[in-house]
Amino acid sequence: MNTYLKRRNRLRELLSGESGIVVFVGNVESAAQYRDNGYKWRQDSNWLYFFGIDEPRFAAIMDLDGGGETVYADDFGIDDIIWMGPMPSVASLAEGAGVPASAPYAAFDEAVRAALAAGRRVHFLPVSRYYNAVKLSGLLGVAPDALFSVGKKGCPLASEPLVRAVVKMRLVKDAEEIALLDAAAELGFNMHTTARKGIRLGRIEQEIVGEMEGSTLGAGWGVSFATILTQHGEIFHCHSHEAPIEPGRLLLIDAGAESNAHYASDHTRTYPTGGKFTPRQRDIYQIVYECNELAFEMTRPGVPYRDCHLAAVRHMLDRLGQLGIVRGDVDEMAADGIGGLFMPHGLGHNMGLDVHDMEDLGENFVGYDDDQTRSSQLGLGSLRMARRLTPGNVITDEPGIYFIPALIAQWKAEGTDKGRVCYNRLEQYLDFGGIRLEDDVLITPDGARRLGSRRLPIAPDEVEAAMAEDVMKR
Ligand code: GLY
Ligand code: MN
Ligand code: MN
Repeated sequence: MNTYLKRRNRLRELLSGESGIVVFVGNVESAAQYRDNGYKWRQDSNWLYFFGIDEPRFAAIMDLDGGGETVYADDFGIDDIIWMGPMPSVASLAEGAGVPASAPYAAFDEAVRAALAAGRRVHFLPVSRYYNAVKLSGLLGVAPDALFSVGKKGCPLASEPLVRAVVKMRLVKDAEEIALLDAAAELGFNMHTTARKGIRLGRIEQEIVGEMEGSTLGAGWGVSFATILTQHGEIFHCHSHEAPIEPGRLLLIDAGAESNAHYASDHTRTYPTGGKFTPRQRDIYQIVYECNELAFEMTRPGVPYRDCHLAAVRHMLDRLGQLGIVRGDVDEMAADGIGGLFMPHGLGHNMGLDVHDMEDLGENFVGYDDDQTRSSQLGLGSLRMARRLTPGNVITDEPGIYFIPALIAQWKAEGTDKGRVCYNRLEQYLDFGGIRLEDDVLITPDGARRLGSRRLPIAPDEVEAAMAEDVMKR
């Protein structure tokens, strides 16, 4: 109760210059086919952060002028109890969150209409579920689509003061949240270890996915995002897992666990399918590993995460130069965005109750501050977290190198590389795939630490040793 009271009081403080009401709309169950055959239940993260009630069909209003708060939901009737079992009363759930007043769910709509009729401002966050968009759309008289964040800029109709206040709070994790994130990282360690032990030539990728996700489901809520497990690491969001594991390939596993408290983990490892890297794979892997380590070494309070991204990219270009894949001055290549050919994504993002924490509120509000503007370059332009780091931030460190045949062909045809790419050499890698190595990092008062008590094997020798041991233990 104290956690939620403290958070809502802080929100009030941050909104002290505003008037009107703040509305919070929890999720309802989503039909996969019809109401009682739905997608797996998941509460809205902003709702969880401020109220913690993990039940569907709840809403709340915070009155910024009068000071009151009310939780709106319906008590279970006999039909609900027959099918779902008893639920504590809404009043007791609200009290557990430190809210003395509660009312039926339909009274939320009446209260919002009354506030609007009285000319009061209704502060709301961008929505992330369609039902909530329709609900607010009816009350506010705007199209449902207008209530979602659009790309990086957020939702223009949502309350910017509210968005900024929530982002400010959720960006800095308190001790309680850090403990929950450490616990999620343990689940993540276990799921990735299960996956690595399952790698065997001839198995179908989805057999490993099933074992890995099973381990997470057996100990937590499930996965924190759709698993990426593929021998085509160069396809960023490859969710097809039907290929047999082939010799000589790289298997990229980007997967996260979500704990029962709904905190996320997000790790990536890339394994040689037969347990030993080829020399060519080891060369590229070593570079990605060095970029991951370099970024982590630089990560500390006061450093903009954009600088860590840029340092990793410069190191990558320097080392790709040593392999004869690019040529020229590293700083000039970095300034010209040549790194985007090899890593067309950013170094990392915020993580917390959501794997890409708060990105439903608008990526630029979450990852950018007044002293950081967004680049339009491939790669750097996709950097989700550019902010100056502060203690309590939780971010991912996930450099990668990918050989994307269509992108390479496009750059060659259009001369995008300004003569910096040695295509004769690069085109020997068209069948390579991609490598990404991702850890979850907490910014501490004097530096940073990786979440969880154990780090998944990452140095190339460590990876080969772990895979050899897996074989011995079979
Ligand atoms: N695949 C989600 C991430 O690593 O950001
Ligand atoms: Mn990931
Ligand atoms: Mn990530």
